[in-house]
Amino acid sequence: MLPVDLSGFSSFRGGFAREHPLAPLTTWRIGGPAELYVEPADVDDVVVAVEALRASGVPYRVLGGGSNLLISDRGVRGAVISLARLNRIDVLEGVVVTGAGALLHQVVSRAADAGAAGLEALAGIPGRIGGAIFGNAGSRYGAIGDVTLAVDVLTPDGECECLVPPAGFFEYRRSRIGDRIVLAAHLATDAGDPITLRARQQVLLRERLGSQPGWVGNAGCVFKNPAGRSAGQMIDDAGFKSEREGGIVVSPRHANFFENAGGGTADDVDRLVNRVRDAVHRAHGVELEMEVKRWR
Ligand code: EPU
Repeated sequence: MLPVDLSGFSSFRGGFAREHPLAPLTTWRIGGPAELYVEPADVDDVVVAVEALRASGVPYRVLGGGSNLLISDRGVRGAVISLARLNRIDVLEGVVVTGAGALLHQVVSRAADAGAAGLEALAGIPGRIGGAIFGNAGSRYGAIGDVTLAVDVLTPDGECECLVPPAGFFEYRRSRIGDRIVLAAHLATDAGDPITLRARQQVLLRERLGSQPGWVGNAGCVFKNPAGRSAGQMIDDAGFKSEREGGIVVSPRHANFFENAGGGTADDVDRLVNRVRDAVHRAHGVELEMEVKRWR
């Protein structure tokens, strides 16, 4: 249970709620409430919130766009911090500086409109910048880590730092952000032509929608691709397209997407994940690793 005294929040200016529903904040629309939900107004407010939570011994997690996340049906203990209000995007010469809460697709289209090239590989990827950096979001054309010059973070000691990622900081669908909180990202761009950039974005979006379901009702690819192989293809080959557990169905369009057909639960997802893993392991001897993060 949360301590009644959260007096450290007296100077907090953002939003604050107890037993706040989290399912609407995820693309899967799954999950129970957060014991405490905190939505800081700006970076200073993030510092206040984290200090207050630490001082009162309340554990916390950071929510991004909820597009790569499975939240327990029973909800989560402690606090969930959403950085959705840190959504400022500045397109400058050679760099886009964006708050952790900015939506990735808005960053990509704002850059294209301003003639800033280099972010096209990220077109059509859901989520917010903080989560994208944390999980090194990407497509077959590249990942956000490829263009990340620096990341503003809040360290576990409560210090704001500008981190310049060293070689090896970003790997396939992971980063070494660890327990630092992403506050903003500095993304490298080149001069480009807005019309060409928008056209390229449209091509990539169409390509994506041609082989994958849309953004709502799924969490993107459930599993990482094992080196040199496609998880979707292996799940498909195992005959799992349209397989179902409760309200969760393996997408008939792309087998690495699990769709919430209505009323799906995290327990349903877990059951389907286990069945798929067992089948792929039996057929290919490969242990699939989850790409989706799990909050219990
Ligand atoms: N395939 C099948 N059946 C399926 C799905 C795929 O046979 O049900 C085959 C395709 O025909 C293709 C191959 O598997 O020959 C690869 O499929 P696809 O081109 O769709 O790429 P993917 O490896 O499944 C990756 C990323 C996606 C990203 C796409 C396009 C991972 C886990 N997935 O998918 O990223 O959108 O490339 O760039 O890295 C995500 O990470 O959440 C995600 C959706």
